[in-house]
Amino acid sequence: MLPGGAAEEDEMERTHIAVVVGSLRRESLNRKLANAVTKLAPEELSFTPLEIGDLPLYDQDDDRRQAPPVLRLKQAIRDADGLLFVTPEYNRSLPGVLKNAIDHASRPYGDNAWAGKPAGVIGISVGAIGTAVAQQHLRGVLAYLDCPTLGQPEVFLHAKEGFFDDAGEIADPGTRKFLSGFVERYVAWVKSHAR
Ligand SMILES: Cc1cc2nc3c(=O)[nH]c(=O)nc-3n(C[C@H](O)[C@H](O)[C@H](O)COP(=O)(O)O)c2cc1C
Repeated sequence: MLPGGAAEEDEMERTHIAVVVGSLRRESLNRKLANAVTKLAPEELSFTPLEIGDLPLYDQDDDRRQAPPVLRLKQAIRDADGLLFVTPEYNRSLPGVLKNAIDHASRPYGDNAWAGKPAGVIGISVGAIGTAVAQQHLRGVLAYLDCPTLGQPEVFLHAKEGFFDDAGEIADPGTRKFLSGFVERYVAWVKSHAR
């Protein structure tokens, strides 16, 4: 397709969501959840995973010469219309890899890439309260960074055997319906913040 063609125009009209998964694990339940939830979204949304596994540990000394993976992360956030955080809970908070990514893209002072980006926060864990505490901590961090988060519905998922079927879809129809409802509210939330 030539530049400026119909496919490119369609692409420009789509709502672009950057997905941030707070786990680097190959078999991550949260990555599976991200994949399953994004499939419930309407065609007009496109999803791009943000790579956070290759970021260096944040060091304020590097603020004026941020590493290429940090600049790439910040550009990907800026290019997105909205953000979807899908994270596990580590020791009753958000995982260090996720906080590291958040810190990187928030700096240098005055150049916070997260500001104003509408976000959704969901997660799944093997614990009974399904990432509730991690999500509260994450919402606090995002509020400070001026990143508005959808309040309801909260999505705290408890991973049990058979939560995902062999194709990686959410097995239980009731949970699928609940997540479709979340996606509907999330899309409206992102659109209400359209630039
Ligand atoms: C360092 C560490 C801390 C954890 N702390 C919690 C916790 O506070 N609450 C919880 O529900 N699960 C906790 N878990 C279990 C995670 O829910 C489980 O490992 C989950 O599969 C992680 O998500 P992932 O599959 O996307 O990697 C912890 C796991 C690790 C490795």
